[in-house]
Amino acid sequence: MANVCLCKGVSEETIIKAIKEGAITFEAVGEKTGAGTGVCHGARCKQTIERLIEEHKQK
Ligand code: FES
Repeated sequence: MANVCLCKGVSEETIIKAIKEGAITFEAVGEKTGAGTGVCHGARCKQTIERLIEEHKQK
């Protein structure tokens, strides 16, 4: 599966798992997986992470 966060090499699968475990903000996903905490600080991945949160968080 493609990496969502290129800086940290975090896959979409890893991010979806973190969301299902309760990380439902960009910051929480970052704490759990490292995604969004690389040198670009989410410039390349934040939008995708926020879309995944919307799609996968428990409603
Ligand atoms: S691509 Fe995610 S922090 Fe840079």
